[in-house]
Amino acid sequence: RMDVGILAMDIYFPPTCVQQEALEDYDGASKGKYTVGLGQDCMAFCTELEDVISMSLTVVLSLLEKYQIDPRQIGRLEVGSETVIDKSKSIKTWLMQIFEEYDNTDVEGVDSTNACYGGTAALFNCVNWVESSTWDGRYGLVVCTDSAVYAEGPARPTGGAAAIAMLIGPNAPISLESKFRGTHMAHVYDFYKPNLASEYPVVDGKLSQTCYLMALDSCYKRFCGKFENIEGKQFSISDGNYFVFHSPYNKLVQKSFARLVFNDFLCCPSNLQKEERENLEPFSNMTGEESYQSRELEKVAQQVAKPYYNVKVQPSTLLPKQIGNMYTASLYASLASVVYNKHSTLMGQRIVMFSYGSGLTSTMFSVKLHDGQHPFSLSNISCILNLSEKLKSRHVFSPENFAKTLKLMEHRYGAKDFETSKDTSLLSPGTFYLTKVDSMYRRCYAKK
Ligand code: ACO
Repeated sequence: RMDVGILAMDIYFPPTCVQQEALEDYDGASKGKYTVGLGQDCMAFCTELEDVISMSLTVVLSLLEKYQIDPRQIGRLEVGSETVIDKSKSIKTWLMQIFEEYDNTDVEGVDSTNACYGGTAALFNCVNWVESSTWDGRYGLVVCTDSAVYAEGPARPTGGAAAIAMLIGPNAPISLESKFRGTHMAHVYDFYKPNLASEYPVVDGKLSQTCYLMALDSCYKRFCGKFENIEGKQFSISDGNYFVFHSPYNKLVQKSFARLVFNDFLCCPSNLQKEERENLEPFSNMTGEESYQSRELEKVAQQVAKPYYNVKVQPSTLLPKQIGNMYTASLYASLASVVYNKHSTLMGQRIVMFSYGSGLTSTMFSVKLHDGQHPFSLSNISCILNLSEKLKSRHVFSPENFAKTLKLMEHRYGAKDFETSKDTSLLSPGTFYLTKVDSMYRRCYAKK
């Protein structure tokens, strides 16, 4: 089967958000710390009405309707999420409501979990299924859904929330180049959720940044190695038109891309211009460990990478900067941003993707872009994503109101026997929302 990959995409994010500039002020952080230091503009969050289940119900129904897909045509449904609402019952089972209505209960797949990597695991499962002997000719559907919230403190501005749905099948406009894959997996305690009574993670911020960059280097080396074996030439950033990263916050994406440029310099200096080489030369003999700690290298590499960043990375940063960390959905929201911004010029191009989930699991892989046939064309995907409109119609909450909402959610987490306000005035028509949790912890949703 040819060109298996993403046929269609849709994204949902809550209409409620808080400005990072206002949050800096409210938190007493120095001016520019969140906006320039972390590189973030705005952060989306769920109110008491929304959660990962309601967001995924909303986005799945929206995708099926907008691309006119008959729910009976879905043969596999995989969900990636790290937001735990139930330790046994998968989010996928809630989504089955949509398919049961059409008598389609013949749908394989469950949830995949490991921090922000679950969406990539779900995508690989679906793509593998379509490429396998068990494929029955129907579509796969991948859903990435998370609500990222942190306790008060330095990590709080790196939250976010969204759900993405992706239809998987052959002859896709966004097909995976499955031969070029570099993976790095290891055991570390950088970010984890051991406290089952709380939605908040335990996080070692500095360690998580270093783990992310080390995993990136390792995946890039393996990715380049496989590329060289198959294509017979060294891979460098000039072989990728866009580079899309898991984006906890934009500054880490800037550092990540600079790291790839530094890798290119170490392994193939002739790919860089003379002046760029001269700037990086003082760092050429550093050990790996030293290079992760060197602020000077970080600065110089970011300077050298800047013009390439503006062309190859910046178009992917639209949603992550406006929404924040969407965990499993973050990488695919970045991909959606490129498709939205560049759909008319993507034909034949390659996008390199880096997926990272703390703990840790990580993979670099690449996708190739094709014309696609309606409704699965890049221009139609861009039109349905409709990102500018969706971003424009959001409601900005004050930091006080945001903090109050998170306080309420702390009490609601794991609770039973309550009803929500059911005030849906901020939700657009078609949005699912939580109405109540009964005495048996059963959750009820309605559709606006
Ligand atoms: N103006 C401009 N820049 C500023 C200002 C200012 N007033 N103040 C600080 N900065 C810069 C800092 O120099 C730093 O940038 P640099 O790294 O380029 O030097 C940046 O802002 C952040 O400042 P720090 O002091 O490093 O921030 P802090 O340690 O308080 O928190 C952190 C940042 C660790 C990312 C925290 O938000 C966190 O723990 N987040 C969650 C973990 C995370 O997202 N990890 C990423 C990978 S794992 C995952 O996806 C969950």
